[in-house]
Amino acid sequence: MPQIIDGKAISAQIKDEVKAQIAALNTQGKKVCLAVIQVGDDPASSVYVGNKKKACAYVGIESLSYELAAETTQEELLELIRELNAREDVNGILVQLPLPEQIDEDAVIRAIDPKKDVDGFHPQSVGALCIGQPGFVSCTPAGIIQLLKRSGIEIAGKECVVIGRSNIVGKPMALLLLRENGTVTVAHSRTRDLREVTKRADILVVAVGKPKMITREYVKEGAVVIDVGIHRNENNKLCGDVDYEDVAPVCGAITPVPGGVGPMTIAMLMYNCANSVSL
Ligand code: GUN
Repeated sequence: MPQIIDGKAISAQIKDEVKAQIAALNTQGKKVCLAVIQVGDDPASSVYVGNKKKACAYVGIESLSYELAAETTQEELLELIRELNAREDVNGILVQLPLPEQIDEDAVIRAIDPKKDVDGFHPQSVGALCIGQPGFVSCTPAGIIQLLKRSGIEIAGKECVVIGRSNIVGKPMALLLLRENGTVTVAHSRTRDLREVTKRADILVVAVGKPKMITREYVKEGAVVIDVGIHRNENNKLCGDVDYEDVAPVCGAITPVPGGVGPMTIAMLMYNCANSVSL
């Protein structure tokens, strides 16, 4: 059977490291504060935001909560961001996505001071990642690098295939694997003969957004399979983009859903917040 990559244990380890880092900052008289903004009351977003605030409390980061009405205008949201940008006691600003349709997501992301962009979505953060300079990195792909490293999986020289090209996961994932000296291919909905491409992968990162799409026909024997997807099936059970039961017997290592990539996102958000103090 494959190595099961334990995101729950690794994320707990990272949160404990961050907790120690925050305690050390506190002894120097420095506090860390994250402003969390949610517009509207999408239930999934409320769960994510609640978990982020809980993680802040655990590691010792203060969190400021802004729950704005669904009808909030873009100008009102931008005004709040400008205010938080100017506040010296606020280190990080997180605007939970998606936003209601009257608000331009890009304009909001660009309004956040890159020094407080703990999500790593600002064009300056993405540009810095692209040219190998310091800056915040999107939490989910950063968490996947930690999963690989802390599970003893070497990236340098490996064939890495990322399925998906979103700004939040696929593109930064490809850049991070490249930074770790992987040989990187990005596949997407227009890729011809996807199986032929994914079968080459030593490390396969799947972020397609389709439940159980990746079966063993897509996977080389012994490959490392990282599943970014999270879905609820007909029986209300969680599943990923990878058909776990089908793929697990042929691969070398795999992330479960739940308990794989999911918990890493918040752990890396805490990591980014702790490091926002020194930027
Ligand atoms: N919505 C889904 N994932 C994320 C995330 O990582 N950050 C923010 N701000 N919104 C999200």
